[in-house]
Amino acid sequence: MSDDPTWHRVANTDEIDLDDALAVSVGDVEIALCNVDGTIYALNNICTHEYACMSDGLIEGDVIECPLHQAQFHIPTGKVLSSPAVVDLATYPVKIDGDDIYVQISEKR
Ligand code: FES
Repeated sequence: MSDDPTWHRVANTDEIDLDDALAVSVGDVEIALCNVDGTIYALNNICTHEYACMSDGLIEGDVIECPLHQAQFHIPTGKVLSSPAVVDLATYPVKIDGDDIYVQISEKR
């Protein structure tokens, strides 16, 4: 994976508590790493409704709630679950190698 330039090391596993999120970025791509029951997922960190960081939101089970207007999204798929957001969050593949968390971003934007 280290030879593949689309994979980016973004954090250590011990930086994210259970049911918590961590903001990281790769180039211009802002990412919320979410720890759901020990599994790490990567979502775009900017709410699709207005400007709010999803990493500041509340995680309950596999759902994250936007801190600004409380739209909810399914963490594993990024699917929007409740208004006022209507557009899904982008998700990114995650790999764990030892204590390192890698996220796959095909293109730096
Ligand atoms: S900014 Fe997230 S729901 Fe409005």
